Amino acid sequence: MIHATAAAKDSQAAEPLFEPYQLGPLHLSNRIVMAPMTRSRALDGNVPNPLAEIYYRQRASAGLIITEASQVSPQGVGYIRTPGIHSPEQIAAWRRITAAVAREGGKIFLQLWHVGRISHPDFHDGALPVAPSAIAPEGEVFTAQGPKKMVTPRALDASELPGIVEQFRTGAENAKAAGFDGVELHGANGYLLDQFTRDGSNHRTDDYGGSIENRVRFPLDVTKAVIDVWGNERVGYRVSPTGAYNSMTDSDPRATFSYLTQRLSDLGIGYLHVTEPVSAENRVTPHLRPLFKGTFIVNGGYDAASGNAAIAKGEADLVAYGVPFIANPDLPYRFGRKASLAATDPATFYTGEDKGYTDYPALRA
Ligand code: PHB
Repeated sequence: MIHATAAAKDSQAAEPLFEPYQLGPLHLSNRIVMAPMTRSRALDGNVPNPLAEIYYRQRASAGLIITEASQVSPQGVGYIRTPGIHSPEQIAAWRRITAAVAREGGKIFLQLWHVGRISHPDFHDGALPVAPSAIAPEGEVFTAQGPKKMVTPRALDASELPGIVEQFRTGAENAKAAGFDGVELHGANGYLLDQFTRDGSNHRTDDYGGSIENRVRFPLDVTKAVIDVWGNERVGYRVSPTGAYNSMTDSDPRATFSYLTQRLSDLGIGYLHVTEPVSAENRVTPHLRPLFKGTFIVNGGYDAASGNAAIAKGEADLVAYGVPFIANPDLPYRFGRKASLAATDPATFYTGEDKGYTDYPALRA
């Protein structure tokens, strides 16, 4: 057992990451958020693995956990072994996870996901993945038959969009049934909502493409449906304004994401979660902060010092950490004690069952 010294306790109290935070109706014990991370360990039927109960419980000292992305429908899947939130078995498995986190005093949001074009016909009985426009992303996806080149998706007809809004609404309802504290919409990293938002992937000429206002129409329709289910305060939205992952581009990220941020702020959602490398030049994040009246979460390579500094300078309310949480289940404890962090093994990010998943020890035995 390691005992904190009085000095360590004092420095911890003075550090903004350790201040409690009121996120709407939710009391967070600190400002350290576990970022959503795909871990690819779901079972047949994309049912969360029972190991996930241990994994998330081990990390419940985060002020808030945001789960790995979880598809809202069979149409929304693009990876093997990612969990869903659309079947009774999935809901039952998630309920055990949320209960385990709650027993530890933690808070947990589910990330609602539709991958759009980042998929393959192998996932859809041979049918094409869907997207705002028929533009192929570069790269490969891992299907049950191994890696395969991504294909040109089928452009969605406008008449199909209300049905996808309903997929998200049902996912939100299922998340409620599963005992989550709230939901985060995955509007980042080149998946469906992001594909509509950015003009590199959206070449539509109808009400859902062209102007920024049109491009964010579908993402906002989805947000409103999820607010219907959860109330505005328990809904978050994640963006990656300058991320190039999944072949994403936009001609004016600052304008695009400023507009989206203002509309999300008008809807009164609980938080905006922006992922963008802290070290990048021409970051859009600082321009979004003053446009959003709710809680602002930053993510992207922060450590304890830069996270504390971001909150102290008013650049963020909460700081999300991804990779450091993989090998350091007790990350807040380690940050508080200035303990060194365990290194994460990338070989077990997406494979290994318990190895590299639930076998990283906490400092306190
Ligand atoms: C991935 O599995 O590579 C992945 C999933 C969700 C993300 C980013 C990456 O947001």
